[in-house]
Amino acid sequence: MTAEALKVSKLSVWLKTESGRIKVVDNISFSIKAGESVGLVGESGCGKTMTAYAILGLLPAAQATVQCAAIKVCGKEISTLSAAQRRRILGRDIAMVFQQPGTALDPVFTIGQQVTAVHRRHTSGNRRAARHATLDSLRQVGFHQPEKIFSAYPHQLSGGMRQLAMIAMATVCRPAVVIADEPTTALDSSTRALILQQIERLRTDYQTAVLMVSHDLSVIRRSCQKVMVMYCGRVLESTNCKKLFAHARHPYSAGLVACIPQIGPSRPSEIKAIPGQLPSPSALPNGCHFAPRCSYSEPQCEHSTPQLVHQGSGDGAGIVACFRPL
Ligand SMILES: Nc1ncnc2c1ncn2[C@@H]1O[C@H](COP(=O)(O)OP(=O)(O)O)[C@@H](O)[C@H]1O
Ligand code: SF4
Ligand SMILES: [Mg+2]
Repeated sequence: MTAEALKVSKLSVWLKTESGRIKVVDNISFSIKAGESVGLVGESGCGKTMTAYAILGLLPAAQATVQCAAIKVCGKEISTLSAAQRRRILGRDIAMVFQQPGTALDPVFTIGQQVTAVHRRHTSGNRRAARHATLDSLRQVGFHQPEKIFSAYPHQLSGGMRQLAMIAMATVCRPAVVIADEPTTALDSSTRALILQQIERLRTDYQTAVLMVSHDLSVIRRSCQKVMVMYCGRVLESTNCKKLFAHARHPYSAGLVACIPQIGPSRPSEIKAIPGQLPSPSALPNGCHFAPRCSYSEPQCEHSTPQLVHQGSGDGAGIVACFRPL
């Protein structure tokens, strides 16, 4: 049996805002095995980044309350670690590729200085070993002249190259888990393909467990085996990625699938946008939060909350939170 690299149980997050306390992640649970890639998808503002930050312990305690039953990396509980203890595992056991490499990389240090710093923080290796590992990591993500990138400053690189450098930095210590938050946003399509290919390579070559966070279901389709669909902080459907595209069971998931343009020899199918907008976390509808936008809504949906229940069997098995799954 394959080991669970990341296990998240009953994770909830509240934020303090000017209009009061809002719940942005609502009781989510999932696990990712070594060598597995799981997508977290949903419209902007549904709570994906808050989920990622809460797992890594990156939310400031003054602004956010995080509650969970467990967050385990390779069986080790990390949610109870102190800030100093957590810094020791970030980059070594679990790492993050951020949405904005331009802001995540420090402009006053070269790429080489930043990647070697991560390596030296987590290993007993000397400067030479760190340089060797850094050049290796830069080469692994596809740079043909890693020495040049090693001595470059972030502003000297394009957005795509900065993101590749960020992946090299996140993976220089070969962490068991990588969380990539919208790693291809604002990149052109060929650079996007390259970034996804590099993340895929980590998974296949090093058995890294990947949590791919994206608002774009086509990115998830290209890079993930499983997918969780999130809405207003809740997971509404979790299933095999192929299964979601063949037969989404939740009306919201089906709406997201229908929004993807189909490219092929036949006439393009009609793109149907989901009507309405994601509600604000400070004014969530009662019952099923998706009810005001759902064409299958019935009176029960407006006052009762559908729980996640198992649907299907074998490869097509999944969990869905809907009173009348499709
Ligand atoms: N600093 C903040 N202050 C107040 N609300 C925030 C802050 N950051 C995020 N939020 C709110 O938390 C919710 C979830 O945000 P986020 O996790 O960033 O969404 P996603 O990554 O899915 O686009 C959103 O409603 C967003 O408005
Ligand atoms: S529970 Fe009701 S409103 Fe919610 S998605 Fe299912 S049918 Fe639609
Ligand atoms: Mg986000």
